[in-house]
Amino acid sequence: MPDILEATRHDVELPPDLLAFLACPTPDAWVDWALANPELLLIDHAQCEKKAASTAMSLLYRYVDQPLLLTKMSQLAREELLHFEQVVKLMESRGIVYRHLSASRYAEGLRCHVRPQDPDRLVDILIIGAFIEARSCERFARLIPHLDDDLAKFYRTLVKSEGRHYEDYLMLARHLSVVPIDERVAFFAGCESQLIVTPDTAFRFHSGVPD
Ligand SMILES: [Fe+2]
Ligand SMILES: [Fe+2]
Repeated sequence: MPDILEATRHDVELPPDLLAFLACPTPDAWVDWALANPELLLIDHAQCEKKAASTAMSLLYRYVDQPLLLTKMSQLAREELLHFEQVVKLMESRGIVYRHLSASRYAEGLRCHVRPQDPDRLVDILIIGAFIEARSCERFARLIPHLDDDLAKFYRTLVKSEGRHYEDYLMLARHLSVVPIDERVAFFAGCESQLIVTPDTAFRFHSGVPD
């Protein structure tokens, strides 16, 4: 397997802690798959931004007694909705019709391991949030060298904001857990990398590799 630092050493520099957080780099086969499906990439990307806003909103509703979480999730939901608008606008300018797509196995493949009782439940959801953001950030960086100028410029701005979202989720997980979270992070790193390196049925932004 290629070294994660090696695989992302193009164009955009990713923070070393973010790279170390992910257990594996995105395989080249996924990058090729994405470049062969430019419309699906943008449609699913729009879906992901919308879903990210909705996850943040659901935390806002459920954990009203956590002021730091409320502030961070409120900011995050607004940013994700702004990203959503930007992707939709970009799709429109390229004549890409927004249609419904089934979700990839990725998020559910992580969420099925969430422990049922709080605060464990919340800590797991926040750790998963950190993985989704970190992987998104890494994938944008991997795609950038292959994209046209407009899309590359847009994805460079997203590398920055999704990188910040990863930091916020991880900070909140540490802040709200009563015990160290390292073991739980290692557990989810293992699950996440499996979803990334194993064959998947359909191309999506967070899919595995072609079957
Ligand atoms: Fe986003
Ligand atoms: Fe994000």
